[in-house]
Amino acid sequence: MRSVVFSMVLAFAVAVGVSYAGDAGKGETLFNTTGKCKVCHKTTDAKLVGPGLAGVTKAFDDAFLKEWISDAQGTWAKGGPQIEAIQKKANKVGKPKTAMAPGKLAAAEVDDVIAYLHTL
Ligand code: HEC
Repeated sequence: MRSVVFSMVLAFAVAVGVSYAGDAGKGETLFNTTGKCKVCHKTTDAKLVGPGLAGVTKAFDDAFLKEWISDAQGTWAKGGPQIEAIQKKANKVGKPKTAMAPGKLAAAEVDDVIAYLHTL
């Protein structure tokens, strides 16, 4: 019984992961235009102003990414393990501010960008 419940939970998690709300095609356009992500981020591993974003959805869950992309400064100020990981990678442990620009995207647009990040 326990394993049946476990498999159902797992199947649900996989289904949710696959059917993410955003539209990756729109997200790619937003990444390169309104979102200005492209100014600071490559879609490979290579660093530009910020870290390369290939595989970033494996390092951070969608809920965190949504918060971060919507309000990087506020999320940075709140701290937590995911912020510590970003700070370590950027060599900014203990710094009061992130260099990431404030987001200009509507909530649904952030979902689209996250869907695009899933393809990197
Ligand atoms: C003005 C430059 C700039 C812009 C524009 C920008 N970012 Fe960033 N971003 C950064 C920097 C710099 C960091 C690393 C933290 C630091 O150094 O303050 C970062 C960190 C991140 C991280 C965490 C990556 C990791 O592995 O640590 C993600 C995800 C991210 N940005 C996504 C985005 C998305 C999506 C957009 C567009 C909506 C965007 N960023 C726009 C500069 C920017």
